[in-house]
Amino acid sequence: MKCLFIVIAGVSERTLIAVKPDGVQRRLVGQIVQRFEQRGFKLVGMKLLQAREDILSQHYHDLHKKPFYPNLLRYMSSGPVVAMVWEGHNVVRTSRLMVGNTNPAEAYPGTIRGDYSVHISRNVIHASDSVEGAQREIHLWFDRRELVDWDCCDHSSSYQV
Ligand code: PPS
Repeated sequence: MKCLFIVIAGVSERTLIAVKPDGVQRRLVGQIVQRFEQRGFKLVGMKLLQAREDILSQHYHDLHKKPFYPNLLRYMSSGPVVAMVWEGHNVVRTSRLMVGNTNPAEAYPGTIRGDYSVHISRNVIHASDSVEGAQREIHLWFDRRELVDWDCCDHSSSYQV
């Protein structure tokens, strides 16, 4: 019964967040993780990896005709990324707000891109843009067995469910 209630309340929504190679190189992983933890989201998957070309081309398949596509793939392959799955109420939309505008020049201070980047070609972080997109991306980047279902001991401090 408790599980049913949690699903209805949307608390189990998940999103894919990836710290891009520039964010890893600049040692921003810890500060980015801290923002999601402090906001109240639950980490259910995390790994450092050199992204394979087939994953990147599937991940960005909608953009393959864009002029920046070759540069985007080169950038995303230029070093390791930290891929994460975060869970919580409205996490897809809230993450996008925390990350800020795709173009850092338009991103508000206080957002991740607004605080840590200046140019769209090196914008530090990826966040899924919809619940459906998140499900597709999580499936692409993570094996089911790499995601951990666990109970957060401060759950009742974040949710009245
Ligand atoms: S578009 O053109 O509106 O479809 O693109 P947009 O939604 O703004 O961005 C989609 C992803 O492409 C990345 N992007 C770029 N990367 C490198 N260089 C340039 N010039 C560039 N323009 C857009 C952008 O960061 C988005 O990637 P993610 O991983 O989702 O942040």
